[in-house]
Amino acid sequence: MSEVSAQAQRRRTFAIISHPDAGKTTLTEKLLLFGGAIQMAGSVKGRKAARHATSDWMKLEQERGISVTSSVMQFPYRDHVVNLLDTPGHADFGEDTYRVLTAVDSALMVIDVAKGVEERTIKLMEVCRLRDTPIMTFINKLDREGKEPIELLDEVESVLGIQCAPLTWPIGMGKRLKGVVHLLSGEVHLYEPGRNFTRQDSTIFPSIDSPGLEERIGAQALADLRDELELVQGASHPFDLERYLAGELTPVFFGSAVNNFGVQLLLDFFVKHAPSPGPRETTGREVAPTEDKLTGFVFKIQANMDPQHRDRVAFMRVCSGRFQAGMKAFHVRSGKDMKLANALTFMASDREIAESAWPGDVIGIHNHGTISIGDTFTEGEKLAFTGIPNFAPELFRRARLRDPLKLKQLQKGLAQLSEEGATQFFKPLLGNDLILGAVGVLQFDVVAYRLKAEYGVDAIFEQVSVATARWIHCDDEKKLEEFRDRNAANLAIDGAGELVYLAPTRVNLQLAQERAPGVEFRATREHA
Ligand code: G4P
Repeated sequence: MSEVSAQAQRRRTFAIISHPDAGKTTLTEKLLLFGGAIQMAGSVKGRKAARHATSDWMKLEQERGISVTSSVMQFPYRDHVVNLLDTPGHADFGEDTYRVLTAVDSALMVIDVAKGVEERTIKLMEVCRLRDTPIMTFINKLDREGKEPIELLDEVESVLGIQCAPLTWPIGMGKRLKGVVHLLSGEVHLYEPGRNFTRQDSTIFPSIDSPGLEERIGAQALADLRDELELVQGASHPFDLERYLAGELTPVFFGSAVNNFGVQLLLDFFVKHAPSPGPRETTGREVAPTEDKLTGFVFKIQANMDPQHRDRVAFMRVCSGRFQAGMKAFHVRSGKDMKLANALTFMASDREIAESAWPGDVIGIHNHGTISIGDTFTEGEKLAFTGIPNFAPELFRRARLRDPLKLKQLQKGLAQLSEEGATQFFKPLLGNDLILGAVGVLQFDVVAYRLKAEYGVDAIFEQVSVATARWIHCDDEKKLEEFRDRNAANLAIDGAGELVYLAPTRVNLQLAQERAPGVEFRATREHA
């Protein structure tokens, strides 16, 4: 086996999807503990405290500093190298979250046992669906009272439309929580609160028939468990690797992240069965991870880490071959070679200079605005990875300046901040408005704050009558021309120079579509 195949097969690159407060941060911390990447509980929570203070904009600066180190966390586990990609922490749901999910090979869904399937999880699952991303599920907070496990599986199946294969099964919950049974090995892992804080080293019985178990958990709990297991076996789906990999079935684990209970069972199963990097589509052909030559795409940009220098870090997911420190790579969009100097890797314990990176890994490339989201790097071949979309924003505002002389800076600031991908920037064909679109309302505050801090521009964002946007596509030049003339009042150019229809209402959009057969109105734009 070539080194690149061997390295690719060891990689597990994933993200955690969950509703806020379900326990993503806590679980991340436990995973890092197992990976030996951190020594002490509490180090990840500290970062979150800074993140939470979204009303304090000074903290935002801090957050950006912190989130570069925590946006990708790499740690070794057993024979594997795990890359955990963080989905952005701000309270709003942004499309930058969507794009992180294009860069992973699988996802881990965390559900609060008391709350069940929540709204953010539903949205994130929809995104995973677009690529049939394989999903594992962790039902968290078993140390508290919650919904019946069977009821929860039912909820996941009916609300999220994915079948559940429980891999562990809880013995009681809340104050009555005694442990979990591993449904494949039959082992019983006891819950011993207070003992599981650093590593999982609880008492294990080989099966539910083991002598001594009844004494530990009580006759009633054991009898209930036997009944429940019978029921579960009849009512749930067995684990099926292929169906998991196809995104049709999710293995489910139960536990308590904060007590580090049930987490190692999950992690062991995860590194064993979660997919290593697979082939990826490009405009030209499918790229296999095992190819010798480096390819990768940029899924995230973080700008102005140091406002004095306008530097940016572009996060590139390696899709094939090997990245080596200092190598030159071909930047397909500009058609130029670029030296990837001082690229960063993301060992969770440290942010360090990358010596090499393999398929599934992420490297951070410093640049001054030449690299955009969606860009592909190769060793010379002209191809572009597909499937890294911009989504139509759902909220729109008109930018207005307090000092009209700063128009140039405003334009530049809006354009550059939009390159990071959290907001989109539109210039209507008629008039001089500058319109900003976002998926979440907090983004406007962030942009206003950063315009001031980084570009010295005092701008306010006003309501504008735009309800939604669609990217216009039409192969017939003449038809497109006609459409453009007739609809100029509703058309704009986005940051990438593409034509966009800004609809004041949904009804207007529908009418415009009906009146223009042959013209496509797309809800997403692929990065070219
Ligand atoms: P998030 O990143 O998904 O938003 O969630 P986070 O891990 O921050 O967890 C949200 C809250 O739930 C935290 O409490 C955390 O301690 C708690 N939590 C996480 N896992 C478990 C669990 O297994 N059992 C119980 N009972 N609670 C859990 P908090 O009060 O917001 O923070 P803290 O003061 O406890 O740190």
